[in-house]
Order: sequence, then structure tokens, then C-alpha cells
Amino acid sequence: MEDRIVRRSEMVPCRSAFIDTYTPGSHLKDNFSIIGPGVTENPEQVINISEPHGFNFGAAGQPPRIKNSLHSHFTSEVFLIHEGTFEIYWGLNGENHKIISEGDVVSIPTHCFRGFENVGDKYGFLFAILGGDDTGGVEWAPQVFEAAEEHGLVLLEDYGVWDTQKQPVPEGSKRIMPMSCKQAESYDNYTADEMEQRICRKDSLNPLEDHPLKHKKFGCIEFHRLIGTSDAMIPGGDGFELLLHKAVPGGGYNTHSRLEKEVLVSHSGSWKISWRDENNKGSFVLEPGDLVSIPNDIEKSIELVGNKNGSLFSIINSDKPALPVFGYTDGRR
Ligand SMILES: [Fe+2]
Repeated sequence: MEDRIVRRSEMVPCRSAFIDTYTPGSHLKDNFSIIGPGVTENPEQVINISEPHGFNFGAAGQPPRIKNSLHSHFTSEVFLIHEGTFEIYWGLNGENHKIISEGDVVSIPTHCFRGFENVGDKYGFLFAILGGDDTGGVEWAPQVFEAAEEHGLVLLEDYGVWDTQKQPVPEGSKRIMPMSCKQAESYDNYTADEMEQRICRKDSLNPLEDHPLKHKKFGCIEFHRLIGTSDAMIPGGDGFELLLHKAVPGGGYNTHSRLEKEVLVSHSGSWKISWRDENNKGSFVLEPGDLVSIPNDIEKSIELVGNKNGSLFSIINSDKPALPVFGYTDGRR
């Protein structure tokens, strides 16, 4: 289990993950690949847990005014704002925008150019979930390639991001070319109101009235389904469900297990996770920014400890997770 815990301090930033890494305004961004095969264009990027989970979980860290350039994905991309204030912008020229703050969640649809800028006055950090093990990668808006090339960077099929100012392009290597303007214009766009439907604001959440896990709750804890295929704030269907548990100290859930893998991420508060399988047991505390990937069929209980209110995200690797299982029946289910 120790190997499946990733502390915030163990997340390894990469400053040259993508083609826009030298472009002024995008050059100081940190990119983190934390769980899954990864989405980077730099083959040397560190991944904390490379085991496939059915989704990729990463993060972006950006100083004030630094941008993540306009790009699109083949599966939906969800941002969990952990620290700071960001403006997300979308459309071929990034002409639409919304401000999202700590604790907010947004799910950006496929086939739509999006970027985001830290508009706060401190380092901003957001987690990102991208559906699928093989996400199909990143599609950049054509102007991102043009700006990158002005600063010497091109994208090569076999080598990823290549700095032509350091070394000439290797013989026989194939450049990935920007898409045509006509193709780029065919990408989807959304009004600000439509995008707002895909944002969960931390102050306007509605806990689920009824869920089997509530039978195991103790103290004060709320269960929210932010993204899912039924009874969710934002429609899902990209291979994962996103839940949020909000508690006051002493709140939690007694022992249960799941048929799916579950990634728990502390957004705020100190969360104690106690676990047990056939041979081992243990417990640990997730502090804000820490996460754990819990394998299927592990019994666990969850409790908010310490003296601060807390929020815990849960990402389950299924569109339609089975109901949680409570304890063993004749040794096994
Ligand atoms: Fe992205």
C-alpha cells in the first residue's frame, strides 16, 4: 500500500512535457503525470504509478499569469482546482472564458480547444483526470505549433518534443504537423452558459440523499456524485466516476470495499484511511494534496481526523461502479 500512496511532495514536475514549453507565457508551467500511462510528449517524464487505471491522473502547476496552451483531447478532461484561481478559456481562439477557484471542478468536453491561465497572485495547482488508458494524446490548436517553432521546438513522432536549436532533427524522423485551419474550425464550441453546466462550484453542491455508503457513515459526512452516468451533477461516461466526500472532524465511513480501483485525493483536511486484506492491514493519513490508489477488494474505512473540515475526492475506475460491499461474507463475497 505504501507504494500506492503519492504525497504532494513526491509529485515530480516536468518543465518540458509539451510543445509549448519555450513559448513565453507557457514556459514556466509544471506538468505532473501521477497515475496511468501518461499524456506527456516527453518520454522521460516521471510517473508515480504507471499501472493502468482506465483513466490518467495528472496535475499542472503554474505561477501567476502562466498559461496552458489551447489544446483538445479525445476523452473528457476534468480539472480539480486544488490551489489558486484559474481562468479556463476555450474555442479556437480561446474567446470564451470562466473563472474557477479552489475546490471547483470542471469537465471539458472532447473535440474542443481549451487552455487555462493562473489568474491569481500565487502558484496555482490543479489536478486533471483524462478518461482512458490510451487517451489518444493531445491535439494542439495550429497557432500553438507556430509559436513553438518560433522558439525552436518541433514535435517528432518517435522522439516527442525536439529542440532544433540544440540538435538538428534526426534523419528519417517524422514531424507531427499542425492540423489545417479548416480542420481546426470544425472543432466544437460552447457558450459560457453551456460550460457553466459542466462546472461544479464548491459552494453550490447538493449531496445525494440516498446512497448505500451512507448506511456505513458515522459523524457528519456528505456524499456528492460530481461526475457519473446517473444522478450526477455533470454527465460522465468516460470510464470513471468522480465523487466528493465533505466532512467535519470525526465524520467518515465504516469498513467497506469496492469491486473497482478507487483513487482518493485529499483536497482539504487530514483523512485517515484504515485498510485490510487477507494478509495485511494498516492505516495512513492523507494530507491536502496527497492521494492513494486503493486496489479492488480491499476493505477500508475513512475518517476525517484533525480539527479542520475536509473534502476528499474519489475517482472510481468505472462508468457504473457496483455498489460498495460491506464486510466479508463467508470469507469472500
Ligand atoms: Fe489537457
